[in-house]
Amino acid sequence: MIQVQDLQYKLSGKSILEDINLEIPDGVFAAIIGPNGAGKSTLIKLIMGLLEIQEGSISIDGVPQDKWLKKHGFGYLPQREEYDRSFPATALDITLMGIAGTLGWGKRCGKEHKQKALDAMRQCGIETKASARIGSLSGGEFQRVMLSRAILGNSKYLILDEPEAGIDRNGVSSFFELLKKLNDAGKTVITISHDLHTLSEYCNYLICLNRRLHCHNHSELVNADIIHKTFGDTVRLIEKDY
Ligand SMILES: Nc1ncnc2c1ncn2[C@@H]1O[C@H](COP(=O)(O)OP(=O)(O)OP(=O)(O)O)[C@@H](O)[C@H]1O
Ligand SMILES: [Mg+2]
Repeated sequence: MIQVQDLQYKLSGKSILEDINLEIPDGVFAAIIGPNGAGKSTLIKLIMGLLEIQEGSISIDGVPQDKWLKKHGFGYLPQREEYDRSFPATALDITLMGIAGTLGWGKRCGKEHKQKALDAMRQCGIETKASARIGSLSGGEFQRVMLSRAILGNSKYLILDEPEAGIDRNGVSSFFELLKKLNDAGKTVITISHDLHTLSEYCNYLICLNRRLHCHNHSELVNADIIHKTFGDTVRLIEKDY
């Protein structure tokens, strides 16, 4: 379980996150929703230890985050603009980066690492592209490579930042099917997304954020009023059974 207590975060005197008290139970398929600039990416980076906590605390499985991170890690698929697809690497190289941090200084990936990476790619349905240059992959194929990378370290937590960006509607459904399988197999999945329609089909825990937290709850308990408060007037909900 991830627990966030009294978290505040400021940048250049501007408040980015305020009074965040949050619990994410194990085993959920959680979505973090909120408008652009709501602090969603900032929140997950604080949870993963990629940004330094200024005020408040985070614990994971009952252990303070800094201690937990000495022994464990998160599977992470970053927001699309945070990586460069013109980098001359193959899909297998990118997948292998998922364990680069655990190899130790100067150690190179061996045969067994490559085998594990190919297994992760197989789970994500992208093993046939192992030797393809990443620049030649479609948006959906590339996200599957990034997912292979994220699951390679075998963390119980999988955190994704707008994985649907750049994928068409069918691609998004099959990508979320894959996430659902990983969730069914025991991973706690936490995804930021703007695709409320897809989230309503797959996610069972909803975190509504707009600088402050508007709710964190099992999704059937989240009503339209909370969604409106999170997004202001920019979102109109349409009944699903039309
Ligand atoms: N390095 C930075 N320097 C200054 N401001 C930043 C920095 N990173 C983020 N911010 C600001 O912090 C706020 C929250 O950003 P964040 O990226 O967490 O939002 P987000 O909810 O993920 O938005 P989006 O849906 O657009 O990805 C925004 O106002 C953003 O401009
Ligand atoms: Mg973001």
